[in-house]
Amino acid sequence: MSLNTQVGTWLDIGPVDQISPGNARTLPVRGGEEIAIFHTQDNQFYALVNKCPHKQGPLSQGIVHGSVVACPLHNWNISLKTGKALGNDEGCVPTIPLKVEAGRIFLLREAVIPVPTEAKAA
Ligand code: FES
Repeated sequence: MSLNTQVGTWLDIGPVDQISPGNARTLPVRGGEEIAIFHTQDNQFYALVNKCPHKQGPLSQGIVHGSVVACPLHNWNISLKTGKALGNDEGCVPTIPLKVEAGRIFLLREAVIPVPTEAKAA
């Protein structure tokens, strides 16, 4: 995955087999949004903020087909790669850089845990 080249520190969130293909799990993050991590049938992993860009439906409970998730509330199709609504729908949910290494899933720490403004200034 090209995101492997992203500079930063990575957060180990556990083994890949915690999510079976076609499913998702959620990760509550301190000071941030809940994140949904998806495992597709073709063995790719993606992480998105767990809120549909339409009316904030829990994308983690949607049906995964290809690299798309259908929102469980009103069936919008959201690209797992870009977070964008597909077809005639418009909107975008933030994606979280993710990589898989040695059978474990890592998320880019800076994208998961926002750095407080005071800490940046210190
Ligand atoms: S909230 Fe997701 S389609 Fe409406």
